[in-house]
This record gives sequence, C-alpha cells and structure tokens, in this order.
Amino acid sequence: MLVRLMYASRAVEPLGPAALVAILRRSHAHNPAAGITGVLCHSGSIFLQVLEGGRSQVSALYNRIAADPRHHDVVLLSYEEIAERRFAGWAMGQVNMKMLNPALLLKYSETAVLDPYAVSGKVSAALFDELIATAAVTCQST
Ligand SMILES: Cc1cc2nc3c(=O)[nH]c(=O)nc-3n(C[C@H](O)[C@H](O)[C@H](O)COP(=O)(O)O)c2cc1C
Repeated sequence: MLVRLMYASRAVEPLGPAALVAILRRSHAHNPAAGITGVLCHSGSIFLQVLEGGRSQVSALYNRIAADPRHHDVVLLSYEEIAERRFAGWAMGQVNMKMLNPALLLKYSETAVLDPYAVSGKVSAALFDELIATAAVTCQST
C-alpha cells in the first residue's frame, strides 16, 4: 500500500545552509530504512515536501515532521494512494528554488514566488511534476 503526501510549512527562522543540510542529513539517514522517498523544496522561508512510501511509514514520518519546532504552519496539501512512486530515485531530493527558471513558477502562480498557501494542492503537485521533468532536483551528498 503506497501513498503520497504533500505538505507546506514555514521555517521558524530564516533557513541557513547548515540548517538545511541538517534536515537532509537526517532524511538520508532515516528515509531509506523506512522505504520513504520524496523531494524537499525550499524557497525563502517556505518548505514544500512530498513523502512517498508505505501508508504507516509516511503517516509516522509526517507526524514527526509536523511536530518539529524548526517550522510551523504545517498544512497538508494532498494525500493519495498511489500505484507507483514518482520520486523513487531520491531518499530525499532537494530543490533549491534559486536555481529555477522563474517562468516555471509564473506558469502556475500569480507571481514568481513559491507560495503553496496561495495555490491549490493540485497546482503544487503540477509544479512538482515539472520540476522532476526538468531535472531540477539535486541530491545533497552528506
Ligand atoms: C522541513 C523538514 C523536513 C524534514 N524531512 C524529514 C525527512 O524526510 N525524514 C526524516 O527522517 N526527518 C525529516 N525531518 C526531521 C524530523 O522532523 C525530525 O527532526 C527527525 O526525523 C527526528 O529524528 P530523530 O528522532 O532520530 O532525531 C524534517 C524536518 C523538517 C523541518
């Protein structure tokens, strides 16, 4: 039973490179053993993360992440049962929005600023699909 979950949140403090590396390091240490794959997108203080895997594992991880004091305003954007993974290659891929063509953001939103609170879960999912198609996802070597 595979599921895919997407949520948005806001970092409590401006996100420095060290803070992001710490999160990705934890993800790479934990996610493979739990069979979790996904992508973490960050822009300014906004996080957008997709988690895929077994229903219990995704649920447990989401609850743990939601309780993490490093971010707040955690909002569930979408949750679905899936036949196959979309991000099978990434224990936790990373999208740095600074490296993105603003045209991709403009395609789906009013301004070239990532704001998952202002668009539907479907729009955020469509943006993610394009990020994968344009290979904008990188893997942090930690
Ligand atoms: C935006 C964000 C994304 C995170 N993503 C993951 C993740 O994919 N996997 C993970 O294990 N922890 C992730 N974490 C960290 C968890 O919230 C939590 O700190 C960690 O799982 C606790 O692990 P520990 O109890 O072994 O220290 C994330 C935290 C934040 C703020």
